[in-house]
Amino acid sequence: METRERTFLMVKPDGVQRALVGNVISRMENKGLKLVAMKMMQVSRELASRHYREHEGKPFYDGLIEFITSAPVVAMIWEGNEVIEMTRTLVGATDPKKAAPGTMRGDLAVFTGKNMVHASDSLESATREIDLFFNENEICSYNQPHESCLYE
Ligand code: RTP
Ligand code: MG
Repeated sequence: METRERTFLMVKPDGVQRALVGNVISRMENKGLKLVAMKMMQVSRELASRHYREHEGKPFYDGLIEFITSAPVVAMIWEGNEVIEMTRTLVGATDPKKAAPGTMRGDLAVFTGKNMVHASDSLESATREIDLFFNENEICSYNQPHESCLYE
């Protein structure tokens, strides 16, 4: 029995500025995942520091906060069976040099500090990040008739 999950996916400022939001969404939709919340927003320094608290003190931390607050992002919640792991696979390795072709970072990015997208890495971080970026009333519930073609 597979598990229905939600994950947090964010197109970072570089992806928005390069007009790759649609490309990211298409990849997720084509895979068979379900979009249940989305907004374009400017991330505040406070939200950035809460989101990236696990990286506080690391050498790249200040640059990361500077970057994520530098231009708008598109924040999304996606739903599906085992969607957390599946989305990490679609996003690819942190370093775009090592990200496999066919992944978002493998196809669309060249530099770790500008790797286009963020995706939750565990159930715990998905829950935390969804809660940080969205109110419950911003998350939609709807049927997709084609779901019976995707799952047994
Ligand atoms: P993300 O959180 O953005 O989905 O990326 P990730 O899990 O693949 O990587 P993570 O280790 O969580 O790092 C968060 C972001 O920090 C930047 N970073 N720079 N210069 C560096 O060594 C370095 N390491 C990480 C990247 O933008 C990475 O996505
Ligand atoms: Mg991470």
